[in-house]
Amino acid sequence: MTEPRVLISREQIAYRVAAIGADITRDFAGESIIFVGVLKGAAIFLSDLSRQVHLDASFDFIGVSSYGNRPSPAQELKNGWDSTGEVRLLKDVDQPMRGKNIILVEDILDTGLTLTFLKKMFLAHQPKALKIAALLDKPSRRKQPIKGDYIGFQIPDEFVVGYGLDYAERYRNLPDICVLPRENG
Ligand code: IMP
Ligand code: MG
Repeated sequence: MTEPRVLISREQIAYRVAAIGADITRDFAGESIIFVGVLKGAAIFLSDLSRQVHLDASFDFIGVSSYGNRPSPAQELKNGWDSTGEVRLLKDVDQPMRGKNIILVEDILDTGLTLTFLKKMFLAHQPKALKIAALLDKPSRRKQPIKGDYIGFQIPDEFVVGYGLDYAERYRNLPDICVLPRENG
């Protein structure tokens, strides 16, 4: 496989994350919030974003899986995927969400299936507010009509890794967001 090439540099990421943090700080002025990260891809984005938000805040994490319905990572990289796949909850939040301001933090909005599932689930808990922060957005891939409230970057239909995003669990620790070429060689 060829080497990942940088699509969005660490400096560009830091600049956007600071801007989103300022937006959240302004939008929720005087309120407390809970950052709910979607494991594992959102871990790095959540840790950077939360330090740019100057409000009373706590963390929680959820785990989901769509691999039962997705092709293997290699197939997904090569051909994308267009199943209407279901999402399974692997780990729920630890604290009650009712009446709270929730910021769902996700690495990327791709087909939208994951966040559509999670949004519905969280709304059933009757939070005071529910917002979606996604570092990346691939609007051309959407299968569900869902939009993020805070988006870092819109990107074309490329498979990306780094800054939390993986290919078969690798590359999450790359500091930049990189494209993993679909063609070998
Ligand atoms: P969705 O449910 O299709 O919106 O997909 C969301 C999940 O798919 C993300 O949380 C990622 O784990 C994964 N994903 C989608 N696109 C990419 C990509 O380009 N690189 C790595 N993971 C991706
Ligand atoms: Mg992933």
